[in-house]
Amino acid sequence: MLQVEMNKKKVDAELDEMLAGYERDRTEVIMVLQDIQDKYNWLPQEALTYVAKNWQIPMTDMYHIVTFYKAFSLKPRGKHILQLCLGTACHVREAPFILDALERDHGIKNRETTDDGLFTLETVNCVGACAQGPILIIDGQMRGNMTQTKVGGIIRKLRKAHKEEVAENE
Ligand code: FES
Repeated sequence: MLQVEMNKKKVDAELDEMLAGYERDRTEVIMVLQDIQDKYNWLPQEALTYVAKNWQIPMTDMYHIVTFYKAFSLKPRGKHILQLCLGTACHVREAPFILDALERDHGIKNRETTDDGLFTLETVNCVGACAQGPILIIDGQMRGNMTQTKVGGIIRKLRKAHKEEVAENE
């Protein structure tokens, strides 16, 4: 399972900067959590503690909120989120074969992340684009008429881009 070490001081500094425009009003909490999840792709404990303290919300209430909304993740997610639709229309158009291939080729099951932290696989219900199924949403972008071959190509491209990014930063 993917392990992520967070540095509390660093997270606090990042959140101070990122959330400076907020009023610290309780009505903002969902938006704040969405912003945090957009940044980290999940909600680290350090970030929840930060929000609880700054918005004066008990931690139990924080957990109620983040567990109520399915979109929030308390588990580390990868750099890229692959959401495969398993609604009826996508199911009959062979989405389960794509799921099998993703699980087999990358050693992850639904809601798991590759050891290198690059990909998280999630299955979702109908996303309203049945005619173009099977649908795969990659980092929020919907791609239709998906096949195992297309998914393989997309993943190879993302891996290559990541390698180039790492090489550039070295
Ligand atoms: S079933 Fe997949 S978009 Fe509707």
